[in-house]
Amino acid sequence: MSQPPNDVGIDDVAVHFPRLYLSTTGQFAAARGLEPAKLVRGIGVEQMAVPDRHEDAATMAASALLELMQRNRLGPGDIGRIYIGTESSVDEAKAMGTYVIGMLERIYGRGSFSECSTVELKSACIAASYALENVSLWAGNKEGNIGVVIATDIARYSLNSPGEYTQGAGAVALLVKRQPRMISLDQEAGFFTRDENDFFRPLGMKTAVVNGKHSNQCYLDAVEGAFASYCRSARGGPICPPHGSAVTDAFDHILMHIPYPRMVEYAAASLFCQEWQGLDRWNSVEAQIGPLPRPGDFPGPAEYQEASSQYQRRFARTPEFIRAFSAKVEPSTLLSRRIGNIYTGSLYLGLASLAESGHLLAGQRCAFLSYGSGCSAMVFSGRVSRQIGDVPLRGLLKRLQERSELSLTDYELLHEGARSESAIPPSGEFALLGEDEQGYRHYDWVK
Ligand code: CAA
Repeated sequence: MSQPPNDVGIDDVAVHFPRLYLSTTGQFAAARGLEPAKLVRGIGVEQMAVPDRHEDAATMAASALLELMQRNRLGPGDIGRIYIGTESSVDEAKAMGTYVIGMLERIYGRGSFSECSTVELKSACIAASYALENVSLWAGNKEGNIGVVIATDIARYSLNSPGEYTQGAGAVALLVKRQPRMISLDQEAGFFTRDENDFFRPLGMKTAVVNGKHSNQCYLDAVEGAFASYCRSARGGPICPPHGSAVTDAFDHILMHIPYPRMVEYAAASLFCQEWQGLDRWNSVEAQIGPLPRPGDFPGPAEYQEASSQYQRRFARTPEFIRAFSAKVEPSTLLSRRIGNIYTGSLYLGLASLAESGHLLAGQRCAFLSYGSGCSAMVFSGRVSRQIGDVPLRGLLKRLQERSELSLTDYELLHEGARSESAIPPSGEFALLGEDEQGYRHYDWVK
């Protein structure tokens, strides 16, 4: 596999998640009157990361960046861009990256990042992908341009709401440079955008407003639209499926935004259902579950949509789907099952899942399906670099085991901001110490 000199992409990934978690199957399921099987299988989440009192999206971003720098022996002068994707902003005007740089300068010295630029991007869960597009263009321009994209978020919904079991928290930092050791990005992407009320957080609100089932449908529509846009742009370029095969066949891994792992199964069923029409394997699928519903067979669009989603549920139980899903999609959900939704970082948590479980092999092709509520989707692709074996593992599975489980009461107090102390006092980490009378936030590295 040859790599052109201006080949650019993701060189390394660092992941930070809180030390606290809530099990979905214990006290939580009992208190909410839910069957544990619904949460583990129907939703796909076993544990959700919960930020402690001293943590916010900025401390998590700073922790992920510090780990990325230490893993790669980078100094502040090596990094020219720190672009942060988040919908968990800590200020309406000041860029989160300035707080993050302030924290990092506690370690590297005041002024050490003064030549680094930083921008905060908001576009719900797709923001980090737009940041990656931007930073990779800059990094590809010139040898030595090294940038970092940080995705950081706290997914928080109201207590007792259906969104509550799709919460989570964490940050992912991506090192972006030429000759990347993880993923070389193709210079092709497809997009889809539409005005929607699926999920949003009006100014001043601490939890998201979500129209749950509608948000699932918006995700499916947007990803389908962006995938079609990607295919128009990439066919004949990086993607040339031979006759009788689908574009998705060209990918070893199909990574998606993971609001909860089951959503990825719905999205894969929708995608493969579209993609496999007319191929030999579809005859076998139709023999098992009958033909696809057609709009003309139903009184209106709502009935047609319901029939289509029931059809896709049946399709998801065919051996053909299960084989493709288990090989190409499911392995990327490993960490999300134990961390929950981290919004814009969840696509890249999927990449970390593949890396930590040894699924990323040199030369494999990856598709990235990014989604942000509101709504917008972006599909892009890349190839696993031949130096993938040089990237050390991160010990994330061990770190997950070392976390502390919260009681339901402590979780609810933290959720409502009603705890006066941290559940675990900060130690060897960045911490929010408090806000002053003007609302400026004070952070420090706590030994
Ligand atoms: N065993 C196994 N499965 C069970 C079960 C049991 N005992 N009981 C129920 N289930 C299954 C249901 O059958 C269903 O599966 P099917 O779709 O195959 O029928 C599944 O569990 C989910 O259950 P419900 O249909 O009852 O859904 P819900 O009321 O629990 O709501 C949700 C689910 C809409 C995702 C809700 O949690 C929510 O609003 N979450 C927040 C919004 C969200 O994440 N949306 C995703 C798209 S938007 C996005 O991606 C951006 C983002 O990050 C937010």
